[in-house]
Amino acid sequence: MCGIIGYVGSQDATRVILDGLKRVEYRGYDSAGIAIEAGGKLAVAKRSGKLTSLVTELAAHPLPASGHGIGHTRWATHGGPTDNNAHPHVSADGRVALVHNGIIENFAELRAELEARGITFISQTDTEAAAQLLALELAACDDLTQAMRLVCARLKGAFTLVALDAHDSERVVAARRDSPLVVGLGEGENFVASDVASFISYTREALELGQDQVVTITRSSVTVTDFAGNPVPTRRFHVDWSPAAAEKAGFDWFMRKEIFEQPRAVADTLLGRTTDDGRLVLDEVRIDAAELRLANKIVVVACGTAYYAGLVAKYAIEHWTRVPVEVELASEFRYRDPIVDSRTLCITISQSGETMDTLQAIRYARAQGARVIAICNTVGATIPRESDAVLYTRAGPEIGVASTKGFLTQVSATYLLGLYLAQVRGTMFADEISRWLGELGAIPDKIQQVLDQAERVYALADSLKTTQDFIFLGRHVGSAVALEGALKLKEIAYLHAEGFAAGELKHGPIAIIDETTPVFVVVPPTGAGQLHEKMVSNIQEVRARGASVVVLAERGDTSVLPYAEHVLELPITPVLLQPLTATVPLQLFACELATLLGNDVDQPRNLAKSVTVE
Ligand code: M6R
Repeated sequence: MCGIIGYVGSQDATRVILDGLKRVEYRGYDSAGIAIEAGGKLAVAKRSGKLTSLVTELAAHPLPASGHGIGHTRWATHGGPTDNNAHPHVSADGRVALVHNGIIENFAELRAELEARGITFISQTDTEAAAQLLALELAACDDLTQAMRLVCARLKGAFTLVALDAHDSERVVAARRDSPLVVGLGEGENFVASDVASFISYTREALELGQDQVVTITRSSVTVTDFAGNPVPTRRFHVDWSPAAAEKAGFDWFMRKEIFEQPRAVADTLLGRTTDDGRLVLDEVRIDAAELRLANKIVVVACGTAYYAGLVAKYAIEHWTRVPVEVELASEFRYRDPIVDSRTLCITISQSGETMDTLQAIRYARAQGARVIAICNTVGATIPRESDAVLYTRAGPEIGVASTKGFLTQVSATYLLGLYLAQVRGTMFADEISRWLGELGAIPDKIQQVLDQAERVYALADSLKTTQDFIFLGRHVGSAVALEGALKLKEIAYLHAEGFAAGELKHGPIAIIDETTPVFVVVPPTGAGQLHEKMVSNIQEVRARGASVVVLAERGDTSVLPYAEHVLELPITPVLLQPLTATVPLQLFACELATLLGNDVDQPRNLAKSVTVE
């Protein structure tokens, strides 16, 4: 996600901040900017595109010398990646500059309130609402720290904010709620940043901040309080990572880091999608409700992991809306004369938004009269641009070629869309929809519970590191998880792995199973009745052929224990949502096994992150 830095010291702030921003380039971004305070005025430079564009701008129009500034690399969420939407945002009175990471859920409400007070907005961002509000509070109290506290108390959502006041040459003030922020402690200088990588070449001493805290840094002091202004304890630590390790937050691979980011990525994707009375609002889905009601068929088109997200979506959307859903490999779709017309709603899923097979498929669908909704992680990419509507996942940049948080956020977004269609078409009662939204809201914690078992998964990978063939089984939505688990292993461990719907096994694939084949089984929750019972029978079938069985089963499900060599516990979750937890151990397993085999996990052989050719 966005990279943030604030600096107070005796060095040239522009140079220090640019250097810090370069070190967080790995996070991915689409614009960058810097603001400094000099002589009671703010000076700002910001540009869409890479840091080189900002460097060129600064060379042409250098900022005044200053030891006091803030900087930002932006990964667009609200508003496209333009110069104007780039951070820092300066308030209408010119006094405050603000950078932000996260999502301000109630920005529309705040913006309306501020516009009613005569403030003119110049960007499409949620951040500008916070900048304008901060300036109003500052005008009233003349204390940036106090103004920041008051603003934070009004914001809903997840955010890190860092601000500069033109009338204050001493302080940088920052705040956090559910988004990262650390303090770098230097000699006669201090830093705030979203990531230690930003200041690691200046200091390795740092302070960890808690949730809902405000920090004020000067050259010689650091003061931390809660949002009410009470002092709070902080934890000092020494950063012993190398700069390269710091980019990956201490993880060996971006893929592993991204797996561990999933609780946050899913929470961000779900954030701000409901009104106070519990109604689902997908502002981005600007297709008329009447048209959504008219659709008589849904076609999901996608590739690879995104296609597997579509397979999960089929179960959920059909169940909730009673509209038939077909899931199509984008590369096959337009070559088979599909039945698509103006009553077809096409949902396309793409992390990058640039996959050529998917792009061609939606162009074809639109040419036949279908309306297209894109589920995409990359703001402003070609696929969302060429679609009628877009629902952005908010995974942040995914760097590892093997998709992980991309998949979980895609699945989450399809659930939101399915519930939204059910709401619009009246196929579910409001209380049922809010019950499902409640279940979804509990998922980030459940993913964390699975991640907490990572060491068990790593031990399993170690015990299977000489194995050549793997089978993955699932039923219902679990069959898509089986396919995804097998794909992860193929992609990065270069091993033969196949995923099947467990009921299909006896129709052929069971012939390949013997005592050398570990079989991973995604067991449906016990509450799924027959599905669960049938899976227990399938497990016995493979056991009878000598296979060793690894079960992924709901906590407390003792029925599978007699037949399993290894058990990985999953939190109790409705079967429809189980992919959001059950996929995680399979990602960890593939990542660890590939590491043990000495493979390049982030850039596996023969693969590209974004496949822009047909
Ligand atoms: O960017 P997209 O989601 O459109 O990419 C689709 C596939 O190329 C992608 O999911 C691919 O299968 C991944 N490498 C899977 O890990």
